[in-house]
Amino acid sequence: MFGKTISYAIQGIDATKIVVEADVKGGLFKFSIVGLPSNSVKESRDRVSSAIKNSGYNFKSYNYTVNLAPADIKKDGVALDLPTALALLKGTNQIKSEKLEDYAFIGELSLDGYLRPVKGVLSIAVAAWKDGMKGLILPEKNAQEAAVIDELNVFPVKTLGQAIAFLEGREEIAPMKVDKDLLFSRLNNSPVDLFDVKGQFHVKRALEVACAGGHNILMIGPPGSGKTMMARRISTILPDLTLEEALETTKIHSVAGYTSLRSGGLVLDRPFRSPHHTISDVALIGGGSYPKPGEVSLSHNGVLFLDELPEFKKSVLEVLRQPLEDEVVTISRASQSLEFPAKFMLVASMNPCPCGYYGSEIEGHSCSCSMMSIKRYRSRISGPLLDRIDIHVEVPSVKYEELSSLPTGEKSADIRIRVNKARQIQLDRFKGLEIFSNSQMNPKQIRKYCILDDDSKTLLKLAMEKKGLSARAYERILKVARTIADLDNSENIKTNHISEAVQYRNLDKKFWED
Ligand SMILES: Nc1ncnc2c1ncn2[C@@H]1O[C@H](COP(=O)(O)OP(=O)(O)O)[C@@H](O)[C@H]1O
Ligand SMILES: [Mg+2]
Ligand SMILES: [Zn+2]
Repeated sequence: MFGKTISYAIQGIDATKIVVEADVKGGLFKFSIVGLPSNSVKESRDRVSSAIKNSGYNFKSYNYTVNLAPADIKKDGVALDLPTALALLKGTNQIKSEKLEDYAFIGELSLDGYLRPVKGVLSIAVAAWKDGMKGLILPEKNAQEAAVIDELNVFPVKTLGQAIAFLEGREEIAPMKVDKDLLFSRLNNSPVDLFDVKGQFHVKRALEVACAGGHNILMIGPPGSGKTMMARRISTILPDLTLEEALETTKIHSVAGYTSLRSGGLVLDRPFRSPHHTISDVALIGGGSYPKPGEVSLSHNGVLFLDELPEFKKSVLEVLRQPLEDEVVTISRASQSLEFPAKFMLVASMNPCPCGYYGSEIEGHSCSCSMMSIKRYRSRISGPLLDRIDIHVEVPSVKYEELSSLPTGEKSADIRIRVNKARQIQLDRFKGLEIFSNSQMNPKQIRKYCILDDDSKTLLKLAMEKKGLSARAYERILKVARTIADLDNSENIKTNHISEAVQYRNLDKKFWED
């Protein structure tokens, strides 16, 4: 006898259809599963057979073979428990339903027949919808995440028994619905605010420009000047996540198993990731035998904050370059090659020298480093990496009088309004081009969207000559100037936009080549 069900397995961040076939013959007891990594087969068999028995069905002494096809796709076994159990029950004539193959099933079974949530559900829902499945039957806790795909009917179930009752028409289950507008209308109620940061107005402005245009930014300044404090407040001024971005980001977090059930598994805010400087290459970039996204991909559509940049391993800074360039990470395996999206805004901080006080104007703090050690320290950040950072900003120490006074700046919410407006201008400008912010413009797009009038041209030429800026710096200045003009709601880039953008390259010569 024979039973068949449909399920899905995650490949990278997308899901592939898996056909679960159960063949049941008489003879001595045997239960084999073909197509799973061998180390997980035993556990899978134990869960499935116990769940069947504990749900009030028979698991008699037959010869069972379960085939998970295609065989060459590496499967994370647990999500296939439910479809496996159902195929076996169909193969032993214990389910009276002809509808089994209309639906897709996922879910881990516990020994008592209850369903546990699995990873990567959003990707599975997308695939099931594209394949035209009549519905997706899954663990309750996964339902909200899957239900974001409106067009797909998502049926949450608690137990194996309930899934069967539904299939046999003995129990009705209402498809899960979510109100996406409601989900996304949550207020941003972060406990911190850029308002808390005293002084440092030019740094906050630089952060506003960076967030508006998605520009990578490096903050350089002595210890205690507030670099970490400001970076940790960036989330409060990031532009809203679009629905498309939210879905894409959720897929990544979901396959990594990091989505929180609080938001129904959805990532609704731009990620802010701040890995410690001891992080390994694989943890940053992704990989492993069952490839998982790394921090660069978990930061997709959000911020990757690398505090104290020179403290990171040289190899880590090296591997960072490829995703910064390509916005995607490619992980090659003998059998296949997978891609994880990695479009993030890099925010980095560093001291100007090993002791931290080079150039500091605060009394009692003078730099004790030799020129050699300063050079060596700065050279840890390679030219090609620096080249990818549009905005460099100096963060001076705050004076005591300033620290002891009341804060006087703007609230994050007000800055965020400007950031959102500027981002909307970019979304409209780049419609259909598959880029979303000024930072992503290629040279051709820069020529098209960053046209300068004669005054601006002259100004930029002068600045380039005076500061000895490279051709690459030239493109960065244009992109940043475009963002500054967008914040100013100005269609044309004007001289004041150029002069501000040039300031964000002030450190080019002085700092790196002294
Ligand atoms: N501009 C500032 N306004 C208010 N508090 C500040 C400011 N700069 C520093 N601080 C205080 O000093 C602490 C250390 O700042 P931090 O951000 O860790 O400095 P850095 O990362 O530059 O070494 C902060 O937690 C905050 O309490
Ligand atoms: Mg710090
Ligand atoms: Zn020093």
